[in-house]
Amino acid sequence: MKKITIAIDGFSSTGKSTIAKQLAKKLNYSYIDTGAMYRAVAYFALEHQLISEKYFDIEEIVNQLKNIQLHFEYNVESQVSEIYLNGKCIENEIRTLNVSNYVSKVAEIAEVRSFLVDQQKEMGKNKGVILDGRDIGTVVFPDAELKLFMTALPEIRAQRRYEELIAKGEKVEYEAVLKNLTERDLIDAMRKVSPLKKALDAVEIDNSHLTMDEQLEKIYQLSIEKIKL
Ligand code: DC
Repeated sequence: MKKITIAIDGFSSTGKSTIAKQLAKKLNYSYIDTGAMYRAVAYFALEHQLISEKYFDIEEIVNQLKNIQLHFEYNVESQVSEIYLNGKCIENEIRTLNVSNYVSKVAEIAEVRSFLVDQQKEMGKNKGVILDGRDIGTVVFPDAELKLFMTALPEIRAQRRYEELIAKGEKVEYEAVLKNLTERDLIDAMRKVSPLKKALDAVEIDNSHLTMDEQLEKIYQLSIEKIKL
């Protein structure tokens, strides 16, 4: 069967990674969570005190990129492709609200973007791959055979993310999650380099009122149509 590239873009917490993982399993494709790569750089910057509420050392973040080695490893037990920073698994560390609060600022840095985009292009070059992010269909793989653009109402997205964080034991308020999400949407859509926007040939999926099964079936059918072409 022909292998294709599937690009999934969209706003924060629209369930991009959930659907990407489900679809990857069903198609036997590999999955690349590009947001995890931006989160890893933000985590590194936080750990090295290069970013805080009052401080943002862009020059040193760019200078430190040479000391950042990222790779993904599939964890058979959790069935998750986990991200490693310099040999250490940081899958849990990058999912905190603290990292979420800084990641969009880090993702605005042009050098960080090109550093990560080059790696994403390399990882996906053999097709049979699903990538999710903000610029996959517009910048990373503009020739992807299938492009999806995910949306959902902000309040529904915030509720989903809030429940996820609570389930992980984080002490967060719903309002803080909603605020973080709307701020990130704005920064992601307004930034100069590779802003979040729907590619002209992307299919928009609003999953505010879709069940997981309905969504998976819809997207699976779209994939099969492209694979059969
Ligand atoms: O998908 P996510 O929430 O884990 O992504 C984290 C942040 O990384 C998000 O706020 C925007 C940024 N990002 C990006 O700019 N480009 C991508 N391809 C993926 C993520």
